[in-house]
Amino acid sequence: MRELIDRLERERIFAPTELEALLACDDNYLFQRARTVRESVFGSRIYLRGLIEFTNHCKNDCYYCGLRRGNSDARRYRMTKEQILACCAGGYALGLHTFVLQGGEDPYYTDGLLADIVHGIKAAYPDCAVTLSLGERGHESLKLLREAGADRYLLRQETSNAAHYAILHPPEMSLSARQKCLWDLKQVGYQVGCGFMVGSPGQTLGHIAEDLLFIKELDPEMVGIGPFIPHASTPFAGEKPGDLRLVLNAIAILRLMKPNLLLPATTALGTIHETGYELGILAGANVVMPNLTPAEVRENYLLYDNKNRMEVGAVHRRLGAIGCEIEISKGDYFDV
Ligand code: 5AD
Repeated sequence: MRELIDRLERERIFAPTELEALLACDDNYLFQRARTVRESVFGSRIYLRGLIEFTNHCKNDCYYCGLRRGNSDARRYRMTKEQILACCAGGYALGLHTFVLQGGEDPYYTDGLLADIVHGIKAAYPDCAVTLSLGERGHESLKLLREAGADRYLLRQETSNAAHYAILHPPEMSLSARQKCLWDLKQVGYQVGCGFMVGSPGQTLGHIAEDLLFIKELDPEMVGIGPFIPHASTPFAGEKPGDLRLVLNAIAILRLMKPNLLLPATTALGTIHETGYELGILAGANVVMPNLTPAEVRENYLLYDNKNRMEVGAVHRRLGAIGCEIEISKGDYFDV
């Protein structure tokens, strides 16, 4: 196993069967190598991105997600431009220089309204990056928002296997549409984040290997990986959550495949284990996304049950305790 890990570090690309063997690895040497590689590129610095969950309305009906339109138990909310700007002000005062606007696919936010919000944030905080996480949008819309000042876009592929995609999504959604949107994002000039859930119903190690190979091909700046966690008001309510070790292995493998990648220790990882964030960092992750969503609405943004968010103060304390420092610049991706 150690020889395989060393070879991944040296050669960076692997055959699917070798990736599957690495995903099943139970040797902590994998984490040691991933951590060493992270430190050789980024030192002990961890990047922060402030997450603003500004709408939980969604026109989609993904079988895993608590925001799905079919969930009539959800209490829906939308934030105004002024409320979003107030969140940014709070985050800026705490030292954050990236704001991630995340929401369901909510047609209420037209291109014009979103462009106005993005423009407003960039005008108030020219030293900050704006990241959008709004689901699939057309090429023209993505271009318009890029021109309004958005720097980055997060859109997980969720899985890279079409048959598996169809297990997780209703028939009106397709892997090809998802992948097209990811390629459009690159073409329009965003820094792109993709990613997938680990342990979603029907997923095999082979599917995760396909995700790793898709990521190699897309060559995004960021990859978000977290465990699937069931939500009680979805068709997957009775399913098992994703496996912690498998999430950490996937993070570590990506760190070795692409040393300068931005890899968040995700909220879902922080939810399935008390020290999930720390374990993610120690397995090679280098980004944490503290939550800036106002307390009044936050409890309604439930992608999955028992969502456990981190505030900026807790991020400083917990990362300090494992010997990390916080990077204060907006933390753009850089080539090495
Ligand atoms: N468990 C874990 N992650 C989830 N997401 C949505 N629903 C769940 C769930 N039940 C993730 C998806 C989506 C991101 C915003 O949250 O991967 O892209």
